[in-house]
Amino acid sequence: MKKTINQALVIFGASGDLTYRKLIPAVFDLFMNDSLPEGYAILGVSRTEFTNKQFRKKMKEGIRQFAHYKEAEEKKIDSFLSSVFYLSIDTAKGEEYIYVKKKLSELNTKFNLGHNYIFYLSTPPYLYPIIPKFLYGQGLTLQQKGFRRIIIEKPFGHDLSSAIELNGQLLDFFQEDQIYRIDHYLGKETVQNMLVTRFANGIYEPLWNRNYIQHIEITAAESVGVENRGGYYDGSGALRDMIQNHLLQVLSLVAMEPPNKITPEEIRYEKMKVFRSLRPLSKTDLKKNVIRGQYTEATVRGKHYKGYREETNVKPDSRTETYAAMKIYIDNWRWEGVPFYIRTGKRLPTQVSEVVIHFRPSPQRLFKAAEGTAHSDNQLILRIQPDEGILLKTGMKVPGSGYEVKSVNMDFHYSDLNDHYIPSAYERLILDCMAGDNMLFMQGAAAEETWKFVQPILDYWENDKDAPLHGYPAGSWGPDVADDLIEGKENTWRYPCKNLAEDGIYCEL
Ligand code: BG6
Repeated sequence: MKKTINQALVIFGASGDLTYRKLIPAVFDLFMNDSLPEGYAILGVSRTEFTNKQFRKKMKEGIRQFAHYKEAEEKKIDSFLSSVFYLSIDTAKGEEYIYVKKKLSELNTKFNLGHNYIFYLSTPPYLYPIIPKFLYGQGLTLQQKGFRRIIIEKPFGHDLSSAIELNGQLLDFFQEDQIYRIDHYLGKETVQNMLVTRFANGIYEPLWNRNYIQHIEITAAESVGVENRGGYYDGSGALRDMIQNHLLQVLSLVAMEPPNKITPEEIRYEKMKVFRSLRPLSKTDLKKNVIRGQYTEATVRGKHYKGYREETNVKPDSRTETYAAMKIYIDNWRWEGVPFYIRTGKRLPTQVSEVVIHFRPSPQRLFKAAEGTAHSDNQLILRIQPDEGILLKTGMKVPGSGYEVKSVNMDFHYSDLNDHYIPSAYERLILDCMAGDNMLFMQGAAAEETWKFVQPILDYWENDKDAPLHGYPAGSWGPDVADDLIEGKENTWRYPCKNLAEDGIYCEL
């Protein structure tokens, strides 16, 4: 278990949804697992007026709904909440940060915090450069007595230039090693397990290259629409919301070279090499290999779903993509010529995130595929969520006369590990930051590198009036043209279902 020392977690934007649904429930789970230090305090800061009592009551509701230990005894929750406090200030006004300083000093004495503070920015992004400046103004960023760290929520920038600017602004007040840029995908147990699958097993690594792998798919499908986030999403879109950050991070773990050691420096170094090796998209690639779509209204099994443009706070003529798919390449010895297909979208048939490694077929097709089945080329599926696990597809002889081959599954499900507690991404990431381990957080330079890669797509979609935006009916797998991206007559996207071992175009929405 990670060792943490006494400290305070200060959450800016504490009246928001993230604090209620994710952050406080995650810290409570840490408390239940005995991962918090002996002395700790949580200070919520926002503009909304709350007394400590009101804030605690709201946080208790969040815990009861969203924590892993939501059934915990009342007195456990109350004991945790007795270290949770609230302060109302206008975070955009520098003069009000004196109250943050005073409150922290009071908590420091009460809980013996050793002047160790984490500042978690769960606020609208325009405050990301402002809050550090005002904390600095009160001397709260200097690590003279204790440590000072800052966690920045996504989105980290809106494009390349804003990400560079934000990095510069943060570095005016914090050192790089004090900055923890969050990407919650990296906190997922199944995403971390990709490193273990690759580097703890002797059998995969020799095959993990252009000689044996034909192509790789990375999918993050969601069945939900934009829900109540139309205002944010309409200015963002699937490329910024999912690909620039989460899916390129997943790609880096799938594609990186073995690190010399499992340390933050070595892992980040290897991931950075992948980002630097992404083949820049040419004009032709942008036209041929990148696809965007937007969901349109549809009725699926009797239930009606609105089109994206009818969603609340979305412009009626919006050209924001709710789906994006692309074929990209990594220019290095390991991956030369191997296409990586990335796809994400909202209002797809099911919620699934996974990586599919498609191995090259055997040199000759000696056997016939069983009637009604495709050829049984080997696939290794690393399922991130749901039904977390790993599946290997192999060809097997259909019993009886002749040699017909059918694809069968060898699957492992995390749920088979009895009593195995899988921490939530936020739980893991908050604990890592408390322990000063930044391995699962993004480096500033890596954030810039991923923006650099997607920037030509953003420019093309924004500036070229002929750049197509394909409609797709809610509940379908996105625009049909996305199928043409996949090379090879016999190849298609995998159409995953909720259950790891099943696939098919038709799943529940
Ligand atoms: C967030 C995006 O970063 O990730 C959301 O802003 C998306 O739009 C979410 O729904 C997906 O996360 P997860 O963990 O549910 O796959």
